[in-house]
Amino acid sequence: MANIYTLRAFLFGEWSSDVRLDGKTVIITGANTGIGKETTRDLAKRGARIIMACRDIPKAEVTQREIIEDSGNQNIVIRKLDLSDTKSIREFAEIINNEEKQLHILINNAGVMMCPYSKTADGFEMQIGVNHLGHFLLTFLLIDLLKKSAPSRIILLSSMAHSWGTIKLDDINSEKSYHSRRVYGQSKLANILCTRSLGRRLKDTGVTVYAVHPGIVRTELKRHMNLGLLFLWKVVRPFTKTTVQGAQTTVYCAVEPSLQSETGGYYSNCGLSSCTRAARDDEMAEKLWELSCQMLGISWD
Ligand SMILES: NC(=O)c1ccc[n+]([C@@H]2O[C@H](COP(=O)([O-])OP(=O)(O)OC[C@H]3O[C@@H](n4cnc5c(N)ncnc54)[C@H](OP(=O)(O)O)[C@@H]3O)[C@@H](O)[C@H]2O)c1
Repeated sequence: MANIYTLRAFLFGEWSSDVRLDGKTVIITGANTGIGKETTRDLAKRGARIIMACRDIPKAEVTQREIIEDSGNQNIVIRKLDLSDTKSIREFAEIINNEEKQLHILINNAGVMMCPYSKTADGFEMQIGVNHLGHFLLTFLLIDLLKKSAPSRIILLSSMAHSWGTIKLDDINSEKSYHSRRVYGQSKLANILCTRSLGRRLKDTGVTVYAVHPGIVRTELKRHMNLGLLFLWKVVRPFTKTTVQGAQTTVYCAVEPSLQSETGGYYSNCGLSSCTRAARDDEMAEKLWELSCQMLGISWD
């Protein structure tokens, strides 16, 4: 019987658990659509207080209403967060630190893929700026609350696309050359390296960290794909996941009790998965950590 469930988990990312989250507080970035929305719905049904961290408030309100109606959980709130602007990230964190007594699960889910070259408000290239640096700063600003609320968890949405890129320490903002697919890969590689570094730094604090590849999921993420990739997408579409299936590994990492003793790993299809050698390079992880701190003007230690 266990084998059937393992096979289904492998093929469809299906997993089920009746773990409840009553009394727990969760933040989900990019909660208004796609994988973030279905993660919000699942955790709302488990009774958590959910803070939807979104940049588009009217869009988030539509999702909020739908999820409250569907889950019967009234404790779903929206707070504005634009990860492409460190001022917005700092304002968001200040509100959370002032208003919330506890934070048990931080889900760094929001992301942008293969957009035309552009910069964040602080002059960072958009994909590394939102997918890595924005979430890096957010985690830094919320870490004391997470530690105070331990056992607590941090989940970073990465991707198998981490294999598309390398970390360009000498051109992290892709000013010398920009290849949108490779730069997306760089940002998702940064998510895994950051998970490893965070896992090491948070050892024995009760805060554990997980990187997730959700699968290839039918969401709005592909909005910037070129025609060639869109054609490829149409071919593989029958083998892609729905957003509900795509949310399963995030939910697994957020609630599965046996993961409490694990940290710093990379998960897919509701289980530990393998990543590239570059994603296991702890020397690079430390260099990226230092560069990120320097770019954001922060000091963790
Ligand atoms: N879909 C896949 O096949 C796949 C595969 C591997 C990894 N992932 C990862 O999974 C995560 C979720 O992706 P998805 O597929 O659900 O994509 P999606 O449907 O495009 O959702 C992305 C979310 O991120 C938000 N976002 C983008 N830029 C933001 C910013 N500057 N500030 C705040 N929020 C921002 C979006 O907000 P708006 O609605 O306002 O744009 C949206 O809520 C991403 O990190 C992605 O890299 C997805």
